[in-house]
Formats: sequence, structure tokens, C-alpha cells
Amino acid sequence: MALLDRALVRLLPAVPKPVVQRLSSRYIAGPTLDDAIRVVRKLNAKGKLATIDVLGEDVTTPDEARAIAGQYHDVLARIDEEQLDSNISVKLTGLGLELDYDLCRENLEAVVGDAAARGNFVRIDMEDSSTTDRTLQLYREVHAEGSGNLGVVLQAYLRRTVADVPGLDNVRLCKGIYVESPEIAFREFEAVRANFLRSLEALIAQGSYVGIATHDEYLIRESLRIVHEAGLPHDRYEFQMLLGVRPERADELVADGHRLRVYVPYGSHWYEYSVRRLQENPKMAGYIASDLFGRVFGR
Ligand code: FDA
Repeated sequence: MALLDRALVRLLPAVPKPVVQRLSSRYIAGPTLDDAIRVVRKLNAKGKLATIDVLGEDVTTPDEARAIAGQYHDVLARIDEEQLDSNISVKLTGLGLELDYDLCRENLEAVVGDAAARGNFVRIDMEDSSTTDRTLQLYREVHAEGSGNLGVVLQAYLRRTVADVPGLDNVRLCKGIYVESPEIAFREFEAVRANFLRSLEALIAQGSYVGIATHDEYLIRESLRIVHEAGLPHDRYEFQMLLGVRPERADELVADGHRLRVYVPYGSHWYEYSVRRLQENPKMAGYIASDLFGRVFGR
């Protein structure tokens, strides 16, 4: 993104919430579970799999964390009732990681147990680097008890990522979205790409199931080359994209016979997620400029 565009995109938090809501509607299913179910039904009809995420990032009490876990039980029940092809994605801070490790573990075990009883799967999203060790530890502990229906995420921008690969049998690999210091994270675009591909090769070499989560055309092409050269059958990997981002490319991957999963967030806590997505959108600077100028000139 050009310098001026980046400066405009930084203005996004100053844009009024209703405008952000309008611009971000393509990235969020809506405020309710019904909205998420409607979106997943449409995706499934187009041959796309889904993963449902309840937006609820800042929990401050144990009851709030239990309430998020409760919402995931509702999500699992609806997926089951409606026979949808969707799993779920959880954030450990949403389940209480910052309040109490044991509380978070209890909530995670309950959700994973419910999913296992319904033949479903739980993916733990990866948050900022202050949570990486605890996330991997909790993942390993709960995974060791269970029926293999739990997976985790690795972020290619972290320098440690290739070293985290051993022993992980089901991983979503993404670039990483949080702001991290150069001591622990690659900052240069090409270095993140290179680490993504190194990590993908390491995961495939040890036989992990991989969710290749990117919209970056270079990484999609290189990943296709790597899975092809490894002779990986189509049921040993999947591509993953965010709702509203590059849906036509997702259609092409489905048409070519690849598994493709769309991340479907819903819930009343839509604002922070929306700002992150909008800040990544290359067209965003234009939207902001047009909104600001529109208001300045009284449109
Ligand atoms: P990049 O940002 O370079 O985007 C490549 C191209 O995609 C852009 O040039 C543009 O064309 C298009 N594009 C990207 N974003 C767009 C947008 N918002 N609007 C329009 N076009 C857009 N991160 C994390 O830290 N923890 C996690 O658990 C997850 N989970 C996760 C799940 C899934 C399914 C995906 C796809 C991504 C995540 N992420 C994540 C986010 C991830 O780390 C990363 O920030 C984004 O995917 C953007 O990186 P790309 O690889 O898409 O490349």
C-alpha cells in the first residue's frame, strides 16, 4: 500500500461506527447465530466448507467466558441439527485464558467434548505472542486427552514457528495478524512468505493435516505446487479464506477439486474484527477518502 493510503487507513478508527459497519458487512455474517447459519448454508451449497467464529474478544469475568463457551455449544448444536459442513474456531482469551488457565481449560474441554460427541472439530485460533506458549500448551494437554478433533494455528511471521511444528497433527497455517516486535517476528513481506512455505513443507513432511489460510496469490500457487509435488491426496489439506475476501478465487479452488473452508465470524462484538479486515483491504484507502471527503463536502 502506498504511503498516503497507509496514512488514510490509520484514520479508520476515526470513521463513524455506522460507516465501518456498512463497509465491513461483507466480512461478518451478522449479529446472530441465525445469520451465521444462513451464510454457512449458502457456502455449503457452493461446495465450500466453513468454520464459525463467535466474536467476543474481551472477556473480563469467568461468567463472560462461560457464556462464550455456551454460545459455542449452541453453534455446535445448530450445525448438527442442520447437517451443515462446518466446524468451529475458538479464541482462548474468549474462553478465559487471561483470567484463569484452569477455567479456560475447563471451557475448552467442554466445547471439544461436545464437538467430539457430534463428530465435529474445534480449531484454536492463535492470538498475539503473549499467548503463544499457553495456547500451544493447552492445545497439547486437551489434545492428548481427546479424540483428535482439536487443531491449532501457527503464524508464519513468528521466527519460532518452524520449531513449533513437531508433534502438531492438524494445523492452520497463516501469516499472522497482530503487531509483533522484530526480535520475535519477521516484518518484511518476503521473509513472512518464505517462512510460511518453510513451515508448510515441515508440516507436510511430518504428515500433519494442513489448513492453508491465505489470500496471497503467490502463496496459494506455491502451496499448490508443494502439495502436488508431495503427492498429497485432496483430503490431507485444505485452503482457508476469510468471509468476504477473494470469493472468486475460492470458487476456482473448489472447481479444481480442492477443499476450501471459509471463516465465518458472527456476533455483537463485530467492531474490532471489522477494523482489522478493513485495514487489510487494498481498496480501503479509497473508501475512507471518499467517506471523509463526502462528509467534508456535505454529501
Ligand atoms: P495478504 O495480507 O498479503 O493478502 C493477500 C491479498 O489478499 C491482498 O493483496 C488482497 O488482494 C487480498 N486481501 C487480503 N485481505 C483483504 C481484505 N480484508 N479485503 C480485501 N482483500 C483482501 N491470523 C492470526 O494471527 N491468527 C489466526 O488464528 C488467524 N486465523 C485466520 C484464519 C483464516 C481462515 C484466514 C484466511 C486468516 C487468518 N488469520 C489469522 C489472518 C492472517 O494471519 C492474515 O492476517 C490474513 O489472512 C492476511 O494475510 P494473507 O495471507 O491473506 O496475505
